Amino acid sequence: MIRVLFVCLGNICRSPMAEAVFRRMVQEAGHIDRIEVDSAGTGDWHVGEPPHRGTRELLRKRGIDHEGMLARQVKRSDFADFHYIVAMDSTNRDDLQKLARENEAEKEKVVLILDFLPNEKRKDVPDPYFTGNFEEVYRLLDGSCRRLLEHIIERHERL
Ligand code: 4NP
Repeated sequence: MIRVLFVCLGNICRSPMAEAVFRRMVQEAGHIDRIEVDSAGTGDWHVGEPPHRGTRELLRKRGIDHEGMLARQVKRSDFADFHYIVAMDSTNRDDLQKLARENEAEKEKVVLILDFLPNEKRKDVPDPYFTGNFEEVYRLLDGSCRRLLEHIIERHERL
């Protein structure tokens, strides 16, 4: 089982969208019994809440399931439990690397989602909690999640 964790600040806007979009891609690729997907936030303000209305509406419009998703905070054991810890922006990545402390193997699991998008100069998925632009986030995540899945399938030949 390959486990992928998407991480943003609040776990209500970007990382739940990434989780839902990526899970749908995994399903369509026929790997749902081999790739497990989750999301979490570095902050704890929204723990227990469903995704933000903007994320829910965007997913519903595209027929992507978000049933039962509730925000949680990243925890130390996530570094052992997940193979890929995918940050939405460089602040999330820096916070995750601090949480991994001196453990290099754990630090190496932390990647930036937009690094998977060729020709994308931005490093950070803009936060729609502040910009209100959920469509822009979806466009970035649709492209980058597709590449991430290709990367995982190539890296794990036995999938
Ligand atoms: P997210 O957006 O990290 O994409 O879930 C945010 C949600 C909430 C807050 C910040 C960003 N907040 O400050 O409460």
